[in-house]
Amino acid sequence: MTPDAAQTRAEARARDWIDAWNRRDLEAVLDHYDDAVEVVSPLVVTRLGQPDGTLRGKAALRGYFAIGMAKPDLHFTLHDVRCGVDRVTILYGREDGRRVADTLHLGPDGRALRMSACYAGPAPVLETRLTRAFGLTAPVVQAPMAGAAGGRLAAAVSTAGGLGLIGGGYGDADWIAREWAEAGHVPVGIGVIGWRLTDALLADILARAPRAVFLSFCDPAAPARRLRDAGIPVLHQVQDTEGARAALDAGVTALVAQGGEAGGHGAARGTMTLVPEIADLIAARAPDTLLLAAGGIADGRGLAAALMLGADGAVAGTRFWAAAEALVPAGFHAAAHAATGDATLRTRAIDRARGYDWPAPWTCRVMRSAFTDRWHDADAPPDPDARAAFLSAQAAGDARHGAPIAGEAVGLIRDTRPAAALLSEMTADAARRLSRSCA
Ligand SMILES: Cc1cc2nc3c(=O)[nH]c(=O)nc-3n(C[C@H](O)[C@H](O)[C@H](O)COP(=O)(O)O)c2cc1C
Repeated sequence: MTPDAAQTRAEARARDWIDAWNRRDLEAVLDHYDDAVEVVSPLVVTRLGQPDGTLRGKAALRGYFAIGMAKPDLHFTLHDVRCGVDRVTILYGREDGRRVADTLHLGPDGRALRMSACYAGPAPVLETRLTRAFGLTAPVVQAPMAGAAGGRLAAAVSTAGGLGLIGGGYGDADWIAREWAEAGHVPVGIGVIGWRLTDALLADILARAPRAVFLSFCDPAAPARRLRDAGIPVLHQVQDTEGARAALDAGVTALVAQGGEAGGHGAARGTMTLVPEIADLIAARAPDTLLLAAGGIADGRGLAAALMLGADGAVAGTRFWAAAEALVPAGFHAAAHAATGDATLRTRAIDRARGYDWPAPWTCRVMRSAFTDRWHDADAPPDPDARAAFLSAQAAGDARHGAPIAGEAVGLIRDTRPAAALLSEMTADAARRLSRSCA
């Protein structure tokens, strides 16, 4: 059988099985199992008090399933089906929101010889205009951090239900191609620093048909038009209301209101006032435009606050910079774990050392270090030796002689974990806080 035919058959089986449960047809459910079936489930432990969680034989299964079917509100919703060699996994949700994966190991006649059930709690529900527009389960966009947000990070965030973006930064087409390949088939977006965007780079990005393009630090009118014509959503990051007006004129899909707390390049306004002010502007001028808040959002408190300020979601950079999948040296992560939010500053020193001629008003927020102590206020740019020492410290993760690019949110980060865990914790915590504040 071809893989496609096997998948189709597995899906038909899963639908039959779910339908049989929902119409409480015990015999039709049992028809999916062999007489000698063995079922392993945590519910066998909790409901039947059987320590190994195992039931043997169809007769035992009939009694166990009959208990489940007696529940008046029982209802299963099919989520997905995975097909393997001689087995299928049925992913479904229960009426109480719990998520279940049942794997059926099939005998030659297609009946299950063994079934193992795995449970998870309810998926955190935080639905906003952003999640509906992009089909997300979390209203969180992972910032396209130049060089740090590669394909693995972006794919991990997208797979976990957020919107993952590759940090195309200064526009190294080979790097973008490599990281795009690294993301595999997972739909991710790409971000670029707008004043570095060339026609060739835009054509390269358009050819990949990313899930979204994130622009910053430029007039978005011309690129937004080309992206919109190609049906690619445009997220444009601004630091003030003047930038917001220009982005609304350009017809972007989403405005990202970035406060000065943010890691990386940005400007002076704080997130707390910028977001609601731009929310009001959007309501008055282009209410269909989405609004995202960026700058200092690293946990459920920040995400909940962003939504309360009128945003449809949040862009988190520094928190994902400290994720396991980020392309960041271990020494920088260790320095961030130990730092407070006092330990950062906005400076031009690192751009001078890297040879980037950043236009005003943008400066870069980094962690303070011996390098910034020496060069932040200096009249002249770092000399060649100082530049070389800085660049090798950046590559090696030496936070004292380099300057990790990170925001005030470092004070909220004490560990490095997989992006999926960070995202689900942030979303679940925000949902809890919002439901509590509305109770
Ligand atoms: C390491 C790092 C690199 C960044 N690079 C970019 C970039 O290339 N382009 C961009 O638009 N924003 C960049 N940013 C800023 C983010 O887009 C976002 O505004 C910021 O991370 C949000 O604030 P937070 O860091 O407090 O979460 C970067 C941020 C960090 C921390």
